[in-house]
Amino acid sequence: MPQTHAIYAHTGEDVLSSVFQQLDVDDDRLFNITMTFLHEMWDGLNNYGHDMAMIPTFVRSIPDGSEKGTFLALDLGGTNLRVCEVNLHGDKTFSLRQQKYKVSDALKTGEATTLFDYLADSVDAFLTDSGSPNCALPPSLARRNLAEVSDEEDVPYIPLGLTFSFPVEQTALDSGKLLTWTKGFAAKNAIGNDVVKLLQDAFDRKNMHVRCVALVNDTVGALLSRAYTSGGCILGAIFGTGTNGAYVEDMASISKLGRSAAVKEGNLMVVNTEWGGFNNSRSALPSTPYDNKVDRESINPGKQAFEKFISGMYLGEITRNVIVSLIDAAPKPLLFSGHSSKQLNKQWGVDTAVLSEVEEAWEGIGRFAPEDTGSTAEKLEHIRDVIIKRMELPPDSVSLNDADVVRKICTHIAWRAARLSSCAVAAVLFQTGRARLTRGGEETKNTAPLVDEGKRIGVGVDGSLVEHYPYFEKKLRASLRVLVGEDVERRVDIGLAKDGSGVGAALCALVAYRQNMVKQY
Ligand code: GLC
Repeated sequence: MPQTHAIYAHTGEDVLSSVFQQLDVDDDRLFNITMTFLHEMWDGLNNYGHDMAMIPTFVRSIPDGSEKGTFLALDLGGTNLRVCEVNLHGDKTFSLRQQKYKVSDALKTGEATTLFDYLADSVDAFLTDSGSPNCALPPSLARRNLAEVSDEEDVPYIPLGLTFSFPVEQTALDSGKLLTWTKGFAAKNAIGNDVVKLLQDAFDRKNMHVRCVALVNDTVGALLSRAYTSGGCILGAIFGTGTNGAYVEDMASISKLGRSAAVKEGNLMVVNTEWGGFNNSRSALPSTPYDNKVDRESINPGKQAFEKFISGMYLGEITRNVIVSLIDAAPKPLLFSGHSSKQLNKQWGVDTAVLSEVEEAWEGIGRFAPEDTGSTAEKLEHIRDVIIKRMELPPDSVSLNDADVVRKICTHIAWRAARLSSCAVAAVLFQTGRARLTRGGEETKNTAPLVDEGKRIGVGVDGSLVEHYPYFEKKLRASLRVLVGEDVERRVDIGLAKDGSGVGAALCALVAYRQNMVKQY
């Protein structure tokens, strides 16, 4: 037998285990990533201009559930654009009416004014379709059709909170410059501009009696809304199309704020970490060729490195890259007998929802609930069906063995995302004095007493991964336990900040309203 054949004798197995190995992140690596994460947090708190921007949000009070009022909120940055009217009842509960609008790729990548005009039009459509708003308006105005209110009349404006889920360097509660676009947005002439002004100009162009009084990131929204409904929260995190976190920091630690009366120990401010931009150098992150390809072909190469390992926008694409490489494996294909499809060959051709469906089928949950009684073969049949349908492959090209390989790829990629996410959570717990980091079961040297020892640690989360991906939170928690120990992990109360973007924006609008930024009547 020629030498080459001997070398390739076990290639299939070897290639597969090498792929899985590359996608694994062991505990030591997890610890190192967390340490690097902390260093980048500190850099961002000390100076402006870092990729992990650590943005002071000017939100300095955390709701306790007693807040009351009705506000409009506009939410851009997730899968859909949403306009909502949020009614905070003042007893930790709220009600909400909302309308979702699609944001086309043309809007995402066209002129910023066109995008902001579309935002204003959506608010207009919402106000027209959903009847009179009750948003902090005098009853006389609330009953009137706003279209009839003439420009000359001296009427108050409807206060609106904007949830704008991109990196924005805030200079006040109601102003901030866009640093960069993320998540596939690339509208022209927006970077460097004040997004509140861009929106307000659009309202004014349309003579709308709406004033944008507050600007929040979705993570800040998640934090505030979880605090409102549960009575306390130190971290708001999004694991959805993108990933990011905002937490409550001691202002004395935000040294880039310089010296002012407010910047002293004990005064708090919410910081939007923009952790999606952690480790853009990839010195600590476990990059594989599949990740590098995702990055290279993305709209923002070299940026948002952490996000590209974790968030819903990218997990499907990483999976696609792995699958295609196995179809192309030499000397013989390792998937689908070498068949590919239009869907598989297309960038973004595999949605992260496909990974969810594969894992649901395997775990016997979600659409395959209630029982987990199916045999392995039955589960693999389900997975095979998902693959054939979603990857548009000829049925007889997908074997049960292929289904099992794809299942393992999905599991590895999801586990890696959850484990990396736990590094971010652990770093925030450490930074806020809630946890000490442990390495190999040993606590690191820090012996300072913990803040709120023994108490519940509130964390608000939102996004498609935490909401829909099978066991994402469970996986995140398993690695968090490795990093901060069981006692702290058990006290971390992770709760869904459902509608956090809308409620958070409303809560911020309320603060702004109270600060008299809106004309009173
Ligand atoms: C991206 C954005 C960030 C947002 C996150 C989650 O990372 O840059 O601002 O919070 O996505 O939507």
